[in-house]
Amino acid sequence: MTVRDKAVLVTGANRGLGQALAAEALARGATRVYACTRQPLAHPDDRVTSLRLDVTSTAQIRAAASQVQSLDMLINNAGIMLRDDLTDPAVLERHLAVNLFGTYAVTQAFLPAVTRSRGAIVNILSVNALAPLPLMIPAYSVSKAAAFSLTQSLRALVAGQGVRVHAVLPGPVDTDMTRGSDIPKASPESVALAIFDAVDNGEEEIFPDPASAPIAAHWRDGVAKLLERQLAHVAPIGS
Ligand SMILES: NC(=O)c1ccc[n+]([C@@H]2O[C@H](COP(=O)([O-])OP(=O)(O)OC[C@H]3O[C@@H](n4cnc5c(N)ncnc54)[C@H](OP(=O)(O)O)[C@@H]3O)[C@@H](O)[C@H]2O)c1
Repeated sequence: MTVRDKAVLVTGANRGLGQALAAEALARGATRVYACTRQPLAHPDDRVTSLRLDVTSTAQIRAAASQVQSLDMLINNAGIMLRDDLTDPAVLERHLAVNLFGTYAVTQAFLPAVTRSRGAIVNILSVNALAPLPLMIPAYSVSKAAAFSLTQSLRALVAGQGVRVHAVLPGPVDTDMTRGSDIPKASPESVALAIFDAVDNGEEEIFPDPASAPIAAHWRDGVAKLLERQLAHVAPIGS
């Protein structure tokens, strides 16, 4: 699905990858970009509608959904990453609240609109959905792995209604999230561009940067993808 002449919603659109995704959607000719942010956002492009949205707030999700009549692409980008060592359950809960339950709640709220347009859902996950970084960000890794499973199930559940569900699994991106990490990072602009190109190409899993790109071929021919395809068709006995 291309975004030209389409309506796109991006969570966490005020900075980092979300800001780059919103800008790339505009550059590709989206007619409307719903830029969802926790703080009010002023944007010079009149195709941008700013929506107040903390993805952990049921009230704000409901209010945002009521302002969006038509939507072609939902991009669940908002996320947090905190260093931890799995000793504090509160840190795991914070990650799950935003990265898993936030993604889930926003998706449920906008799914009717995306279904009406036979559109697409794009979940920004991480390579750590496939393998954790246990000595640095294990709780974050748990949340992204759970959000990946959510993405895979949703894909199977809505496929019959013409909705495409994409999982984005980036390596390090040069944003506030990785500030202070002295590692090679892709620019958010290049990652945003690669994500829209891959959605255009109908890629289910998207590896949008030099660090994650080599995983793509292994993933597509790997046992986990094979099993996902097989299990997606297993229905309850008697149905
Ligand atoms: N940077 C990387 O290396 C990397 C790699 C793989 C995946 N990712 C994923 O890419 C996505 C974007 O990350 P980023 O690198 O752009 O990070 P970032 O620069 O830290 O931006 C995070 C964004 O998420 C928003 N956010 C956080 N909690 C929120 C909440 N409860 N409700 C709504 N918005 C919330 C932030 O809003 P505020 O400004 O209000 O805090 C901000 O807009 C995340 O899902 C992240 O896990 C990043």
